[in-house]
Amino acid sequence: MKNQSAPQITVLDAGGQYCHLIARKIRDLGVYAEVRPSDTPASELRDRIGLIISGGPDSVYENDSARIDPDILSSASAVLGICYGQQLMAYNLGGHVRKGDKGEYGLAVLHRIKPHALFDGLNGDSQVWMNHRDQVESVPPGFEILAGTETCSIAAMAHRERPLLSVQFHPEVVHTTEGLRILSNFVFGVCGCKKDWNPKDRIGPLEEEIRTVAGDRNVFFFVSGGVDSTVAYTLCLRALGADRVYGIYVDTGLMRDGETAYVHRLFEQLGAKAFHVEEAEGEFLAALEGVCDPEKKRHIIGEQFVAVQERVLSTGHFLDGRWILGQGTIYPDTIESGGTARADVIKTHHNRVAGIQKLIETGRIIEPLASFYKDEVREIGAELEIPSEFLHRHPFPGPGLAIRCLCAETEAPVKRLDPGWLLPIRSVGVQGDSRSYRSVLALEKLPDDELATTLVNRMWETINRVVGVVSLRTAIPEMRSTRGTLTPERLARLRHADAIVRRLSEASGFEREVWQFPVVLIPLGIDQAPDSIVLRPIHSVDGMTAQVVRMPDELLRRMSDELLSVDGICGIFYDLTHKPPGTIEWE
Ligand code: XMP
Repeated sequence: MKNQSAPQITVLDAGGQYCHLIARKIRDLGVYAEVRPSDTPASELRDRIGLIISGGPDSVYENDSARIDPDILSSASAVLGICYGQQLMAYNLGGHVRKGDKGEYGLAVLHRIKPHALFDGLNGDSQVWMNHRDQVESVPPGFEILAGTETCSIAAMAHRERPLLSVQFHPEVVHTTEGLRILSNFVFGVCGCKKDWNPKDRIGPLEEEIRTVAGDRNVFFFVSGGVDSTVAYTLCLRALGADRVYGIYVDTGLMRDGETAYVHRLFEQLGAKAFHVEEAEGEFLAALEGVCDPEKKRHIIGEQFVAVQERVLSTGHFLDGRWILGQGTIYPDTIESGGTARADVIKTHHNRVAGIQKLIETGRIIEPLASFYKDEVREIGAELEIPSEFLHRHPFPGPGLAIRCLCAETEAPVKRLDPGWLLPIRSVGVQGDSRSYRSVLALEKLPDDELATTLVNRMWETINRVVGVVSLRTAIPEMRSTRGTLTPERLARLRHADAIVRRLSEASGFEREVWQFPVVLIPLGIDQAPDSIVLRPIHSVDGMTAQVVRMPDELLRRMSDELLSVDGICGIFYDLTHKPPGTIEWE
């Protein structure tokens, strides 16, 4: 459902993890921006005022790397290249890109060399976020260097006469402290865009459109208790009335403590009349029995969702012509499934249910939020008077506790690896836009500085994560990985620990200071206490990047004391890894 005139800015997706973040930040500035594949022909982009080429995992010299139509660089549109986008611009216009062997991930200080409209209003040197391996070594003819960092001499460049500019760092992530200012300078200062976007004004037209699309048919939803499906559901409820909107919630048995009851209450409060809980815990746990590999776990969970949804579809007669499917799809989802698919697969997404596929193919689907980003969805939710406490609840992943309950098939010892201990546990990470699955380094204390980032940069072939020990029941060399899978016992242990963490962080107000707070169970311990807990409080804007948040010592002490008293828990660790190079979840 789209009722927006042509965008002023198009972000060309070269496969970067942060591509959407760029478009979202520009919308936050009040200008509608869309995302298109990097190789979209220049002829389709002629009326854009500005184009932004995103970052990506490729190297410009590889045959199948992401490309742009070179004509965009001689069109009337202003062009900003970001990260890989800068390298592509240099490569296309006759500059030179050097293949790097060692990546630069993390914070850097930007020294400006030449004044430029892109940096208007910035004070002195500023902090930027880098995530790259290759870099531009010489600028193309007609270009000049605008700024550098200690390890990257061409951190920004621009054409002397034409509106072609680029940066090696990521202005779209929060860790680039003046990034929004830089994007705003591009959008308004360089391009001269006008404000044309405010999600709140769009509720009336959205309801109107829902009534048109639905006609005399009813709408059914699989609701997850997440913000997107709840807001989409509420929009339909308002547009069509409670008698015409049906909500089904699948209880997978992988939810947090009290979650199903919470969702039930919320939907009653929103005015739902038809809300059904489909019990499926037994099926999910049976299918996951004995499985350790993170990708396999995700795959099985996807398949189980398919099976349960098929069952619901057939028993509820939802496939006959009187129903259409409502979905909480938001803008980034539409691009990932139907669009460019250039981004390295960081993780597998849920399979498509055949019945649902058929509904989509025959157009019997309604996705009222398909042109909005998460923050915009929250704004719409607030306008619909959905309780703020719900809209600002921490996001919780669809596969639930299954991706926070790590599994191991074999026993292996903890090994000494300077300056800490190498844990025989591997977790998922993202390094230079690609997925990694590497070991964890444990430090005996929580350092005060950015030591974790330095260590991962130095030891990136071995590790993608660093944790600090908070408290242990035994000496660390005594610990080993233990055989553990997704058993009811381990899930109950994790649920218990998660509930303790949530209770204490809510009561202390810490919950509101972080964006998400995964509690992870890892199979590491001793015979009597085979598991440990990792605390992972992070700050983020939308999960694409994340920064570790340190909790007050007193709270941490209370939390770890209580967690160590949970049956079967041997140790408490604190994840010190930003994203990248770690992911938020451990899988
Ligand atoms: P990662 O671990 O990739 O997570 O850094 C980024 C954000 O996405 C959430 N997440 C998911 N959300 N279904 C979801 O609805 C999923 O399969 C899924 N996997 C990860 C994660 O909790 C974090 O907020």
